[in-house]
Amino acid sequence: MKWNRGKFQIKKRNIPMQHTPYPNPSILYDRERAEETALYYYEELPSTNQTAKEILLSEENGRRFIVLADRQSAGRGRLGRRFYSEGGLYFTYAFPHGSFSLPPELLTTAAAAAVCRAIADEGFPAEIKWVNDILLNGKKICGILAEALSKENAVLGYVVGIGINIGISDFPEPLSETAASLSGDFLLKSRIFRRVRRYFTQTLNGSPQKILDYCTKKSCVIGKPIRYFGAREGCGIAQGLDKNGGLIVKKGNGEILHLTGGEISVRTQG
Ligand code: BTN
Repeated sequence: MKWNRGKFQIKKRNIPMQHTPYPNPSILYDRERAEETALYYYEELPSTNQTAKEILLSEENGRRFIVLADRQSAGRGRLGRRFYSEGGLYFTYAFPHGSFSLPPELLTTAAAAAVCRAIADEGFPAEIKWVNDILLNGKKICGILAEALSKENAVLGYVVGIGINIGISDFPEPLSETAASLSGDFLLKSRIFRRVRRYFTQTLNGSPQKILDYCTKKSCVIGKPIRYFGAREGCGIAQGLDKNGGLIVKKGNGEILHLTGGEISVRTQG
């Protein structure tokens, strides 16, 4: 079934893959969810997180929305890194403050659970590497960047950016060592996008414990010896997730740490 909105013809239930001219955003509604989440679709943006923040600042209707782009010229990762963004699936959820009940510190964990589940539904045995990476066979296929947006010391909302490598045949060096892509076209992208949107939306007002349990089950670090870097540095065994999504680590001397950020790697030796 098709319906028209201005010059855009959208196949109902499909992610709109018709191209809209950059830089003018078009709000493309999925009618079934129009009340819930508007979708802004672009061919190219510097960063969907950046655009989502700009829209969040300029809109005051208190509604959730998603910004989606085919490419990002300045895709951003955690810790100030770049995120390679050519031809995969790049989108950002924006939530006005107070539009969900989940503790905001669990947004990254909830997004990781939604992505992992959506990818697993397609038959890929995805795993979660704390705190924001989804891996397939040990290589990164997705990164997540959650940010809070504040104005005059008040939190206005949150953006959660998700980049999934789908249909990327080549990564530049040295990324090709650590990154991988799901093979597939826009149909796979649209299925994964719709599932992530559904699962993520469900968890926003759902049980935090369910998210933590799922992420524990799908973790590729819990139970393993790890190295941690950032504000704190050292080694230990990853024990589990705390109620805020932090990683519980037992050091060699028995001390228990709760990591809230930074980086980890699984130790293969030493
Ligand atoms: C990371 O791996 O450190 C996080 C990567 C997050 C990438 C996504 S792609 C969509 C959104 N827009 C951005 O600029 N970054 C996030």
